[in-house]
Order: sequence, then structure tokens, then C-alpha cells
Amino acid sequence: MDGALGDLFSLKGAAAVVTGATGVLGGAMARGLAGAGAKVGILGRRAGRAEEVVSGIEKSGGEALALPADVLDRGELEAARETVIGRWGRLDLLVNAAGGNVPEATVSGDAEIFDLPEDALRRVFELNMLGTVLPSQVFGEVMAREGEGCIVNVSSMAAQKPLSGVIGYSAAKAAVENFTRWMAAELSRKYGAGLRVNAVAPGFFLGEQNRAMLVNEDGSLTERGRKIIEHTPAGRFGEPEELVGTLIWLCSPAARFVTGVVVPVDGGFSAFGGI
Ligand SMILES: NC(=O)c1ccc[n+]([C@@H]2O[C@H](COP(=O)([O-])OP(=O)(O)OC[C@H]3O[C@@H](n4cnc5c(N)ncnc54)[C@H](O)[C@@H]3O)[C@@H](O)[C@H]2O)c1
Repeated sequence: MDGALGDLFSLKGAAAVVTGATGVLGGAMARGLAGAGAKVGILGRRAGRAEEVVSGIEKSGGEALALPADVLDRGELEAARETVIGRWGRLDLLVNAAGGNVPEATVSGDAEIFDLPEDALRRVFELNMLGTVLPSQVFGEVMAREGEGCIVNVSSMAAQKPLSGVIGYSAAKAAVENFTRWMAAELSRKYGAGLRVNAVAPGFFLGEQNRAMLVNEDGSLTERGRKIIEHTPAGRFGEPEELVGTLIWLCSPAARFVTGVVVPVDGGFSAFGGI
């Protein structure tokens, strides 16, 4: 790669915050940003786990900072913002990776939609929707004042085509995609074209929350896991590191005219009709 192309995708000197960076996909994305030259705030509820991710990045020669916070607690997010600004004096990138399903907000086995508990629906909406909006407000405000910055949200295959069972999660991720477009227009129009908001929509990756649904203890696929692989033209689950290239592109100068899009990273799942 020549120098000019290298700069096009470089994140050198940028300061980033990744929520849910204590998880499988958020952790891989945080390590990927650090590898591209960004300093990365590791935001998660588990302080010990955040410190582990930080030390992994530091061992690889990167710079990172643990930010213990719940994405649903504005006060904790504001404290994390102060820590980042105090340490790095700027904030350029936000990746909203905290999220996931709430098992009680699903209709599985003999359960019926009519009995779905309201509280579970609220929780899955709060985690995925509010958990994306609140950090975008708290960290996005810094970017708006600087006139530059990039937010990347994390959607799911469930947002576009309903996946059986996961009603609340699917609806909440659809809302995240809608918010991605809304916020892209809002920030660019009011605060300048240097502000961009996009999303990645991962296909199926083995995470902490979905592993038991997809793989049996002996390593074989569950019925649901088998169906997913059958519907994924690439014929396998994704590796978390396979999100990194798309993320770096979206965050880098290479994507400076790209805002309001949702990029599937799914081995072809969303393109395939199943026949
Ligand atoms: N794994 C997949 O196949 C897949 C597919 C599509 C989308 N996603 C999405 O990718 C994102 C990451 O998923 P993952 O598979 O890495 O799951 P994960 O459970 O490994 O990671 C999620 C992380 O978010 C953290 N988190 C949860 N609630 C939080 C809160 N209130 N405040 C702060 N942190 C909180 C968790 O502690 C965890 O570290 C989620 O938004 C998920 O919906 C995952």
C-alpha cells in the first residue's frame, strides 16, 4: 500500500469510545481501531473486564482507557466523557456496540405472543435503542461542538427480516437503523458535513449471548444454528475480526462522503432468498 492510500484509511491520533467493548464483537472492534492507530476508550459495565481489554491493547502497542459505565446511565456516560476529554483532549469516534437480546422478550417453544411480558420488551428496547441514543447524545455533543466526528451503530440481520422468536430485539434493532439515518441527517445538516453516522449489521457471529442458541455443548450446531449456516452463502459464522475492515473504512477519511448507511457484514445472509 502506498503512503496516500495508507492515510486514507488511517485513524492515527483519533480518540474513540467503544461501548460494549467488554463483549465479543465490541472487543474485536476496539482492538481493530487501536490497530489502525486510534486511542480507544473501553466502555462497559464490568470494570475488571474493561481493564483486561485495555491491557490486551496496550500489550499490542496500542493506547486504551477503561471507562466503567452503563450505557443506560447518563451520569456514568458523562463521567466517562470527562475522563476521555481529560486524558486525550478530544473525541472523534463512537462505536455503539453494547446491546443484545433479552431472552424473556422472545416467543419460543410453546409460548404465545399474547403473553409476552411487557417488562422484557421494555428492557430489550432500552438496551438496544436507548443504549445507542444516550451515548450518541453524550459523546455526540462533543463531536458536534468540534464540527467533526463519526458514530457507528451496530444493527443486526433481525432489523430487516424478522427472525423467529426474537420479536423485541428485531424491533429494537430496526429502531437503531432508523435512528442511524435520522441522526446522520440531523448532525450533518445542523453541525456540518464533518459529522457522520453509519451502522454495521453483522450477520451471525458466536457471542456470549447467542452461543447456546447456535452451538451444542459438543460443538455441533443446534437446529437454529444449522438453519442459519444453510442461509449464509459463505457457509459459516463470521469471525469477530471480520467486522474490523468495514469499521475502519466507515471511521476513516476514506468514507468522508458516506453517512446514514447500514453495511451488512454477513457472508451474504441478507442477499440470499434461501432457495
Ligand atoms: N453476535 C452476533 O452474532 C451479533 C449479530 C448481530 C448483532 N450483534 C450485536 O453486536 C453487539 C455486540 O454483541 P456481542 O455478540 O459481542 O455480545 P456480547 O454479549 O459479547 O457483548 C455485549 C457487551 O455489551 C455489554 N453491555 C450489555 N448491557 C450493557 C449496558 N447496559 N451498559 C454497558 N454495556 C453493556 C455486555 O456486558 C457485553 O460486554 C450487540 O449490539 C449485538 O446486538 C451481534
